[in-house]
Amino acid sequence: MIIAIDGPAASGKGTLARRVADAMDYAYLDTGLLYRATGAKVLASNADPEDETAAVGAAKNLSADDLQGEELRSEEVGTAASKVAAIPRVREVLLDFQRSLATTPPGGKHGAVLDGRDIGTVVCPEAPIKFYLTASVEERANRRFKQLQEKNPAAIYERVLKELEERDARDSARDVAPLTMAKDAIHIDTDRLNANAVFDAVMAHIRTHMGEDD
Ligand code: CDP
Repeated sequence: MIIAIDGPAASGKGTLARRVADAMDYAYLDTGLLYRATGAKVLASNADPEDETAAVGAAKNLSADDLQGEELRSEEVGTAASKVAAIPRVREVLLDFQRSLATTPPGGKHGAVLDGRDIGTVVCPEAPIKFYLTASVEERANRRFKQLQEKNPAAIYERVLKELEERDARDSARDVAPLTMAKDAIHIDTDRLNANAVFDAVMAHIRTHMGEDD
């Protein structure tokens, strides 16, 4: 069983996907982390995230250690991630890992939950259950601002908003695997729903789907 959860930055995919994976006892992959780690590796080598050779090299050399660390969550790394993510060869390099985790989840789990931008459209178009989460850019900036403020009291809302708008535009406009809703995805607008309400709605869909499959 593969459950795909896609959506723009700070739409609540990560929190939701982790909770769904726990509830179902499935493996969980935050695919954004692969792009963030690639972007961070390029920045650490003082190269430009738009430099194809540097970005592809970083993606090929990712290790488990590169996926750890609070600094991966910064907006600076988020921006670098969306730049490397627009390079087709980078996406190609990261594709196999994502697909093999989805089809052969580690630890003998019976399923996997993947969250990202192109899970339902490119990585796992065959996934039987797909969700597409959205929220207005102001609401998403608000949520991300609150998260950032916990770690850095000097965070500035306007800056977070601007970075999210730029990232949305880059993720939606790129030629390869742009952010878009799969035709068979269930769309959930989370503007007026808290995390628990989104989780309940998603679990209800999953249970209905599993019941129908019996
Ligand atoms: O957590 P947030 O929603 O801010 O971002 P993320 O999911 O960690 O993804 C960071 C960046 O990686 C995104 O802005 C995308 O450009 C890229 N990404 C992607 O292209 N494809 C994915 N499946 C996941 C992330």
